[in-house]
Amino acid sequence: MSTTASTPASTSASPPPTPAPATVLLAGSTSALGASLLAGLRSRSSSRPVTVLALARGEQPNLAADGAADGAADGGAAARNFPNFTVKPLTWDGVTPPPLESVPELSNLTHVINLCGDSIAEGALGPIRPWEQPGKLESVVSSRTESTRGLLSWLERNAGGLSAAKIHHINAGGVGIYGDDHTLASSPPPEATSEAHPAPGKRESGFLAEVSREWEAAATTSNPGKIQVSVLRIAPVLLAAPGVFSAPGVLKSLLPAFFFGAGGRVGSGTQMFPFVGERDFQAAVLDHVMQAGEGGVYNIVSPSRISNEQFSRSLAKALGRPCLLPMPAFVVRQLFGQMGEEVLLGGVTATPKRLLDEGYDFLDADVDSAMKHAVGGVKLMG
Ligand SMILES: NC(=O)c1ccc[n+]([C@@H]2O[C@H](COP(=O)([O-])OP(=O)(O)OC[C@H]3O[C@@H](n4cnc5c(N)ncnc54)[C@H](OP(=O)(O)O)[C@@H]3O)[C@@H](O)[C@H]2O)c1
Repeated sequence: MSTTASTPASTSASPPPTPAPATVLLAGSTSALGASLLAGLRSRSSSRPVTVLALARGEQPNLAADGAADGAADGGAAARNFPNFTVKPLTWDGVTPPPLESVPELSNLTHVINLCGDSIAEGALGPIRPWEQPGKLESVVSSRTESTRGLLSWLERNAGGLSAAKIHHINAGGVGIYGDDHTLASSPPPEATSEAHPAPGKRESGFLAEVSREWEAAATTSNPGKIQVSVLRIAPVLLAAPGVFSAPGVLKSLLPAFFFGAGGRVGSGTQMFPFVGERDFQAAVLDHVMQAGEGGVYNIVSPSRISNEQFSRSLAKALGRPCLLPMPAFVVRQLFGQMGEEVLLGGVTATPKRLLDEGYDFLDADVDSAMKHAVGGVKLMG
């Protein structure tokens, strides 16, 4: 059967239907990853009108500064360039979303994305080791579990009144759930961990694995008929760094040393270093997971399996610097304590099995390519 129209297009063609507007509730919109997803959502808004309800515990000057929010101070350049994209900054307490009934776009809610979580490595070079600061470990856990439970119970109370047949809740998680016992040097080499790990009932040791388990346990719903939950086990994301001292995410503490030629591997450098490029983080989340029908766990990690030494060499190479000065393990332990042991000296091996099985094609699978995107445009004072 032919599908070709028989009447001339000039007289009978009707304009393509306008796609239904979508509303995304983004909790943790002030996070480094939140800024990246906002940019990704904005650049994709030409094909579908999008409103982001951006939840944070305080003001969000970043949104006004880049022109993303309503009433931005830049004279509305972003609004003119992306007329289909709107951000509404909203404050909350980190647990329960504010009354949103007065927000007209709420009825179009299709997705909730939760990126909340007190930084695991923040305060790394303070006088007190990061995880020894009073209340730090409790805050790392509760900022993740309470925000997750709060959002899901809010959604369970309100989902019935929303027009979408199913709301997709996407929760951040980490590859730290796989624990640390793998190095490239071990023989035989470790098997890369897929989403099928850890096996049910198996408890990887370490604080990161423990937090990750509690976090994922919180990301469950009593109403799977109306709410679909996806968990992202995210590897360190190589976010684009505007300046040497303003790099977001994992490169924040590394970039100054490497830029001035004082970087090198950490410890033996044989520990595995999972990573994902920013373009793949955005595309995997926004173009794949958000559109996927089934929910569940996704490893958001590059398929390249590299060591800390390979990662360090790639960063130095992208900056045109040598990679000469290793940080010995005893210095890491002295300065950072248990955080250094797990985050810097520990290694995780993870593979994006599900993304690959479902046909996702990585843009920057190779670390050099992801690194070039992250630091290729870095400026001394950017
Ligand atoms: N960056 C990475 O490469 C990476 C890798 C794997 C997993 N992740 C996970 O992805 C999420 C975002 O990471 P990020 O590095 O972009 O984070 P980030 O820049 O450190 O930002 C942390 C976010 O968490 C919120 N937050 C902090 N304490 C909170 C609390 N007690 N209650 C509610 N919200 C709280 C902050 O919002 P306020 O404005 O309200 O303070 C902020 O938006 C985190 O959960 C992190 O563990 C990140």
